[in-house]
Amino acid sequence: MKLLVIISGSVAAFKTLMFIRLARAAGHEVRAILTEGGARFVTREAVAALTGGPVHHDLWAAEESIGHIRLARWPERIVVAPASANMLARMAHGLTTDLASTVLLASRAPVLVAPAMNPAMWEHPATQANIAMLRGRGVGFAGPIEGAMAEPESGAGRFIEPADLLAALTEARPGAGAGAGALAGRHALVTSGPTHEPIDPVRYIANRSSGRQGHAIAAALAALGARVTLVSGPVSVADPAGVRVQRVETAREMLAACEAALPADIFVAAAAVADWRVAAEATQKMKKEPGAGAPVLNMALNPDILATLSRHAARPRLVVGFAAETEQVVGHAQAKLARKGCDWVIANDVSGDVMGGLENRVHLVTAQGVEDWPRLPKEEVASRIAARIAEEFRS
Ligand code: CTP
Repeated sequence: MKLLVIISGSVAAFKTLMFIRLARAAGHEVRAILTEGGARFVTREAVAALTGGPVHHDLWAAEESIGHIRLARWPERIVVAPASANMLARMAHGLTTDLASTVLLASRAPVLVAPAMNPAMWEHPATQANIAMLRGRGVGFAGPIEGAMAEPESGAGRFIEPADLLAALTEARPGAGAGAGALAGRHALVTSGPTHEPIDPVRYIANRSSGRQGHAIAAALAALGARVTLVSGPVSVADPAGVRVQRVETAREMLAACEAALPADIFVAAAAVADWRVAAEATQKMKKEPGAGAPVLNMALNPDILATLSRHAARPRLVVGFAAETEQVVGHAQAKLARKGCDWVIANDVSGDVMGGLENRVHLVTAQGVEDWPRLPKEEVASRIAARIAEEFRS
């Protein structure tokens, strides 16, 4: 693969030299851009020796000013390693203050970022907001990891090990960020579709969910190597290949099937579970009685599967809920995150054609912030969710 490595200013830059060596040994063709900050930590000569080619650095140098667009078109993947807080900020805001940031803006190649910085800088809301923005655009992240830093300090912000960065790169799929095998050995439990709550033997209460999004998530997790149990309400979409599918009708059956499937590492609650059921289902078909008018249905509250599994003794390590909203999408999702005790909420605006439709526009809401994703086919949303989950398990 043609790999463009952008080295920005961090003491971890020396580790990128090792990464370049490993990448070339694995058969990748490597070119490098060394930023001004990067050049304070590693020399152009060292980078040139390891890439076996010229090191690009100056937007205004004669050969570069002609070549930055050509350079942007060359790579199949771009790896920004190490990515400083400043580099992330420039990427997030589309600034073109040097060759590296200009090439990043001009290139359509998928980008994998390996950040390295002081934990306080990593945790700063400004950095976290930039990361959320980049993730929303499909930028993949490898690390940082927790551990000792150059300063006598430790925490999140340490550069990923070069061999792990190479593994993340080969796992990664363009636009998704992770690939085959990333979730090997993990058990993922996914709910999908609507539930049907019977009124009598022939009638039921339902909703417009098609199961398309949940099924696509199950398929995407399986594609990353996870063992997947899909608990599905009544849907007409096909069972995803390589996934154990358990069909249920009601919310109570869905909860029982989910609890029976535990333990799991990952739980994704994509089903549109009916909040209420008819308190006493009629055992015989309800008949119109002349002059009796319309019947009144007495409703009972259904169990909340997401909240139950979030607080379960065998709680999966990562619990992801969905929030179908028609207004104040992010605000309601944040409240739901707290109320249901899950780790992430994928919020979607269902006021348009999302339910039963082919595309989805979602926001990923976590305790760290909100990522706004563009409107995408449901399969692409699913790949991105699976890739983000894989990233979570890698760190
Ligand atoms: N959910 C669940 N069990 C229920 C209801 C919902 O597991 N009985 C899950 C859904 O699968 C979804 C999340 O909870 O992941 C949000 O569901 P939603 O219907 O959007 O929210 P509610 O909790 O029902 O809140 P409200 O109706 O007030 O929006």
